[in-house]
Amino acid sequence: MILETKALGRDFGGLTALNDINFAIDDQEIVAIIGPNGAGKSTFFNVISGFYPPSRGTVSFRNQNMTGTPTHIFARLGIARTFQTTHLFYNGSVLDNLIVGYRQKTKMGLFDAILRTPRARREEADSREKAQEVLNFIGLAGISTEPVANISQESAKRLAIGLALISEPRLLLLDEPAAGINHNETKGLVELIRKIRSHGTTVCLIEHKVQMVMGLADRIMVLNYGSKIAEGSPTDIGSNQKVIEAYLGRAHHA
Ligand SMILES: Nc1ncnc2c1ncn2[C@@H]1O[C@H](COP(=O)(O)OP(=O)(O)OP(=O)(O)O)[C@@H](O)[C@H]1O
Ligand SMILES: [Mg+2]
Repeated sequence: MILETKALGRDFGGLTALNDINFAIDDQEIVAIIGPNGAGKSTFFNVISGFYPPSRGTVSFRNQNMTGTPTHIFARLGIARTFQTTHLFYNGSVLDNLIVGYRQKTKMGLFDAILRTPRARREEADSREKAQEVLNFIGLAGISTEPVANISQESAKRLAIGLALISEPRLLLLDEPAAGINHNETKGLVELIRKIRSHGTTVCLIEHKVQMVMGLADRIMVLNYGSKIAEGSPTDIGSNQKVIEAYLGRAHHA
């Protein structure tokens, strides 16, 4: 088991966005979280990545209680994430984004950078090398010099995943990686996610594209109004009456 939550809850004012979530993610699984808009999916990510402290319950990562730990500690211990709204540096090239992402994760101080110490020069070479490696892995080597403002939505999604991979996480959290991309591009993304897992990284993704999730995930958790209403294999979830009702009852927007 890589991550476990017990009776996890989070309120916003009077709203219970997440309630009593007991959930575990196994090493090298691909797990998906689905549910209608506002169900608490992104809140779950925010709480398990230390972005928000929980209101109740506990989060443990690799058997270590992480409850209340700040987000940069989660990152250091091996949890990386993407956001529902992609944060990229639009004026920079694809490669620049990865280099900047790498530098943010290393400890190069201003002193080293200004004086161009041997350490700074070594880190600069390392960051280029690491960025190039990630670029190849995510399949964007062909557009490395393109400004991000000009790249397709699919490439931007891949780049956001690449940025999360720079820290070589053990657990990668993807918030709607396939939102806004077409059917063929979604297939390519599924391949990338499988490749990430085959390199030993556990993946947990939130998706509205249920068909994609059914073909990709080992296990699915379904949230509705902040609560877990079902958990199981794609086959179990596809025939679960509660899940069908939750989906039939509400309109969806990716
Ligand atoms: N920072 C916040 N402050 C106040 N309310 C919030 C905050 N974040 C989430 N919420 C509320 O918590 C509930 C769950 O939101 P969340 O973003 O987790 O849903 P979601 O399942 O990710 O939805 P979607 O599929 O639309 O992305 C919603 O009612 C939302 O308005
Ligand atoms: Mg969300």
